[in-house]
Amino acid sequence: MKKNSDLTLSAISADLKKHRTDALVVAARQTAEGPQLLGSPLSAVDAQALEASFRSLGVTGKADDVHRLPSLESMDADILIVAGVGRINGEHDDELLRRAAGSVTRQVTGVEKITFAFPADTVSAAAAIAEGAALGAYSFDKYRSEAKRAEAANETTLREVVVATSASTDKALKTALQEVAVVARHVHEVRDLVNTPSNDLYPETFAQHAGDASGSLSVSVEVYDDARLTKEGFGGLMGVGRGSARPPRLVKVSYNPRGKHQHIAIVGKGITFDTGGISLKPALNMDQMKSDMAGAATALHTVLALAELKAPVRATAWLCLAENMPGGNATRPGDVITMFGGKTVEVLNTDAEGRLVMADGLAVASLEEPDVLLDIATLTGAQLVALGRRTAGIMGDPTVRDGLFHTAEAVGETAWPMPLPEELRPSIASQVADLANIGERNGGMMTAAVFLEEFVGEARGSKIPWAHIDIAGPSYNDAAPYGYTGKNGTGALLRTLVAYARNLGSKN
Ligand code: BES
Ligand code: MN
Ligand code: ZN
Repeated sequence: MKKNSDLTLSAISADLKKHRTDALVVAARQTAEGPQLLGSPLSAVDAQALEASFRSLGVTGKADDVHRLPSLESMDADILIVAGVGRINGEHDDELLRRAAGSVTRQVTGVEKITFAFPADTVSAAAAIAEGAALGAYSFDKYRSEAKRAEAANETTLREVVVATSASTDKALKTALQEVAVVARHVHEVRDLVNTPSNDLYPETFAQHAGDASGSLSVSVEVYDDARLTKEGFGGLMGVGRGSARPPRLVKVSYNPRGKHQHIAIVGKGITFDTGGISLKPALNMDQMKSDMAGAATALHTVLALAELKAPVRATAWLCLAENMPGGNATRPGDVITMFGGKTVEVLNTDAEGRLVMADGLAVASLEEPDVLLDIATLTGAQLVALGRRTAGIMGDPTVRDGLFHTAEAVGETAWPMPLPEELRPSIASQVADLANIGERNGGMMTAAVFLEEFVGEARGSKIPWAHIDIAGPSYNDAAPYGYTGKNGTGALLRTLVAYARNLGSKN
């Protein structure tokens, strides 16, 4: 199935006898006695017959196990799909439903209308199924010549997702489905940006995208070009970008709805390609460094999603955009640069560039004295060592950190709180400047965070509540696809940031 910007999401009652659809999806779960259908709308006779054939069909009920079967006489569907949901227990397992639905839309082709008959007695379960389906229905084939032909030939793409649920008449569900559609579209936008090659996506074109994507929304976009960055002393951004023919940009995206609201600022790392600079990276997998702008993409589309949802919160994204290249004009190891705000940094490794552009972003974002300051970045390989491919690291003010952690859990994303050990601070001291851009290697994710902390400003006499999110692993999936997550750009943590900001907004 294809990414579909005009995918419609709707709900109907759980009685599906006369429901016309291309594909009816039922859930199978794993139990000690083998796979079992889970609350399917099939008649007892049909259900029994189907379950009896599970073994020979190879149906296991495991997550990502998706089988297509001919439809049943009693159903007005072209095909029946059995989707594994894993070891679901019935109640608080929305994420298992979300993933199973996404696994189906990710894997099944040739269907325009799909109906999910999963167990969904609550608004949140029904919305999770719709969300999974929308998130899974993504592909990136802009750069394939055949794809253009297929599009011209109007080949079948998914257009309609229907969720069968006993909550179908609940007004809250209608709103929830509208919101789900908005958020899923912004996740797709982040994936598109992450997947776009760096010959097309560089600071200038990223800034243009921010303007274009803001379109009709009530947000303002301000682009600081390289002349202004130089003039105003953004030494981190300029120092990182100097090796490239494509100069840096800083983009400020503000959503400021009428009335007095909490203000959240989100700084995003936007290295449109990270070669490492003069401290050049090895060739293996360097192509993946086109994804080093995932934080900026997430910050941007979080704010745009909030604007589209008309959330009662003020939100500002700061996109720190630069290309890290070696070149005759590039920053050398040992060079000292002066950051926005005046602190000096000795660049001991040009591949630790993310923290340099983020430092400028945090310092300038602090001047507005937001109530909460977040930053999101593909900052360290050490994040992958510490927490693996899928789990983001969150560091900073304990209240903000734990709030983000619990929000991630609630929306079905994986993140984990990590400390900011004070003993790491001396390791980023420099012989010649205020700070060095590298320090203790063990726990390198936290060393980077300790560096960033130096650039968080004060408001009303105390440090601005701040947290840093390292998404080096979760932002890009180069392993096998799973659930609603395909290969490459994932859009990870956007849903967490949107939900966190909305919760903050409701605290007025
Ligand atoms: N963009 C990388 C971090 C990264 C690595 C993201 C792998 C995604 C996957 C970052 O700029 C970087 O190169 N970090 C260095 C820091 C080191 C020199 C202190 C790293 O992690 O090796
Ligand atoms: Mn780097
Ligand atoms: Zn980087």
